[in-house]
Amino acid sequence: MAMASICQVQSSPLSEAQECLLQVVDGEEEAAANNGLKFQIRDLRKVSDAGVPILNGINVDIPKGMVVGIIGPSGSGKSTVLRALNRLWEPPRGTVFLHGRDILDLDVLSLRRKVGMLFQLPAIFEGTVADNIRYGPQLRGQKLSDKEVYRLLTLADLDSSFYNKTGNELSVGQAQRVALARTLANEPEVLLLDEPTSALDPISTQNIEDCIVKLKKQKGMTVVMVSHSIKQIQRIADVVCLLVNGEIVEILKPDLLSEAKHPMALKFLELSS
Ligand SMILES: Nc1ncnc2c1ncn2[C@@H]1O[C@H](COP(=O)(O)OP(=O)(O)O)[C@@H](O)[C@H]1O
Ligand SMILES: [Mg+2]
Repeated sequence: MAMASICQVQSSPLSEAQECLLQVVDGEEEAAANNGLKFQIRDLRKVSDAGVPILNGINVDIPKGMVVGIIGPSGSGKSTVLRALNRLWEPPRGTVFLHGRDILDLDVLSLRRKVGMLFQLPAIFEGTVADNIRYGPQLRGQKLSDKEVYRLLTLADLDSSFYNKTGNELSVGQAQRVALARTLANEPEVLLLDEPTSALDPISTQNIEDCIVKLKKQKGMTVVMVSHSIKQIQRIADVVCLLVNGEIVEILKPDLLSEAKHPMALKFLELSS
């Protein structure tokens, strides 16, 4: 299997920092097939109804099989970027490409199956954990076998005793793992995680982090994860994007975060450490 790794294209003026900075150094065929990229984001902009800029031209490539962290101050546009990738917010045409195809040309439901999302607070549907996990495939007329449900529970680090539990019997951390198993039942290629552990205790946080690392290793999952925790990003991300005022001002390897140059990025790092 081809190994994707990152080389950062140094672009000296900060104004150019938001240009495509991640490149995949990839093997043979995968390099030919869209350079091993999952998502390409090109000059993604958003202005609020009141005329306030929210995203100011995001340009980034998201290589497949990589865990990409996004950090930045509150209100900097992190959730908006994530939501653009599965059209929870409809981005303008010509700005977001999955495998080289404009996501506006894809069926929105199949896009959301391929690009699953977890939020800060999980919403568990009525019924049992097993019903929740079967939900997505059932919408497509597929009934997951018990064996498949147990496999998904294991993948989300839950034992078989959860099968018959209902939402009100779960802690937030367990509910988040059920939400993860339910998302994984759709066999996504990409997981979008919007601060998935900020409501969780340290043990549940570690469980989710372990799952993400396992999914990357075992399934080659591509993950884009917003986190308020720089330490978390350092534990699990391969690369981190710093988003400030709707712009990616730095893209760095997590162990080199202290080398960030943008003043707002430095301040954010200082306050978060
Ligand atoms: N639908 C919307 N209409 C108007 N403003 C919005 C909308 N969605 C987000 N915003 C604003 O856009 C900015 C970025 O929001 P968001 O992406 O949620 O930031 P973050 O996730 O980094 O905290 C915030 O100022 C927020 O108030
Ligand atoms: Mg947010």
